[in-house]
Amino acid sequence: MDFKLSDDQLMIQEMARDLANKVIMPRADHLDKTGTFPMENVKVLAENGLLGIPFPEAYNGAGADYVTYVVALEEISRACASTGVTMSVQTSLASAPLNMFGTEEQKRKYLAPLLEGKTIGAYSLSEAGAGTDAASLKCRAVKDGDDYVLTGTKMWVSNGFYADTYLVYTTLDPELGHKGITAFIVEKGTPGFTFGKKEEKLGIRGSSTYELIFDGCRIPKSNRLGYEGQGFKIAMWTLDGGRIGIAAQAIGIAQAALDASVSYTQERKQFGKPLAANQAIAFTLAEMATDIEAARLLMYRAASLKDQGQNHTQAAAMAKLFASETAMWVSTKAVQLHGGYGYTTDYPVERFMRDAKITEIYEGTSEVQRIVISRQELTEAR
Ligand code: CAA
Repeated sequence: MDFKLSDDQLMIQEMARDLANKVIMPRADHLDKTGTFPMENVKVLAENGLLGIPFPEAYNGAGADYVTYVVALEEISRACASTGVTMSVQTSLASAPLNMFGTEEQKRKYLAPLLEGKTIGAYSLSEAGAGTDAASLKCRAVKDGDDYVLTGTKMWVSNGFYADTYLVYTTLDPELGHKGITAFIVEKGTPGFTFGKKEEKLGIRGSSTYELIFDGCRIPKSNRLGYEGQGFKIAMWTLDGGRIGIAAQAIGIAQAALDASVSYTQERKQFGKPLAANQAIAFTLAEMATDIEAARLLMYRAASLKDQGQNHTQAAAMAKLFASETAMWVSTKAVQLHGGYGYTTDYPVERFMRDAKITEIYEGTSEVQRIVISRQELTEAR
């Protein structure tokens, strides 16, 4: 067992860290306060090849592995969680299923520009009545000759308004349950596809979250991803990888909260000495650091299993569960360590706390991760 990153992985980590510190971090506060989509950051990620890390060079990818991707994503998320989720949705939720299930034509047309950052991708599974119970979705696809006609409303779509390429999960017949779910590649601007409500959110305020409305939206058969009825498995396969990405985002947020706390508790003096000179404070920092490192190891393990082509459903759920709950705990502690200052917008820790919360919710709530983990424990032959 080797716990070291390879030279190539370390090189990408250093590059992402440098970019994060110099370019992404200085913009994070403004993006949060104004609720601005990080388009400039997306361009920077694209220019540096960070939007195509774990994909074949034949489609403009970097030909690296998933471990390298999550290492880079952690660095970007440490600087700006809104940029982190944008990168994560682009990579894990849009590009990965296109690479895995797409036809050669779909890969050339849709995957290659996503990997170069010429286009932005989105993943649209959830609906008002189908969040955790994803298989109960109602957005309908009706076959009509060589086309399908989509009708229904999707919700909480990240990269929502700014995407060019949407992977939309529909049902051919709700009576079929998960066996009727079918995925389509939908281009922005397709007649019958419009935007609904923009969500105003507690955190990741720079990320774009929209409702999508399909009303008689005609999609050619050539834009069906996978076969009819394969959609649910594509969606779940995608989320297995996506959850490792959200673990990376959560770890980035937690690391940022720890870094801020380490600095502040050494600078801030009360009762004639720095806060960190009190053992209660130093021990809190120790617990924060330990949980972050444990989360990181779970994330590396899940990503490494994915790279080896092994089942990583449970490992991804464990990484996401532990990393997101760590991010919430660490960022809440960071606010506490900053006292009154931590509760103001003059310091970034309140943003970290707001940003951390979503990692316990999207790509499957912590309760969903517990379902996935426990089901495997209960059914696995031992
Ligand atoms: N990979 C491949 N196939 C899988 C799978 C996986 N990880 N998990 C399940 N399946 C298959 C099963 O084998 C089964 O197939 P068969 O019928 O052939 O045996 C089929 O899918 C149905 O599986 P389940 O019976 O387990 O399905 P379920 O209805 O009980 O659902 C669930 C299980 C885990 C609760 C699932 O619905 C789930 O993950 N829900 C949460 C959805 C979610 O995470 N949404 C996030 C939205 S995206 C987002 O948040 C993006 C963003 O903004 C950043």
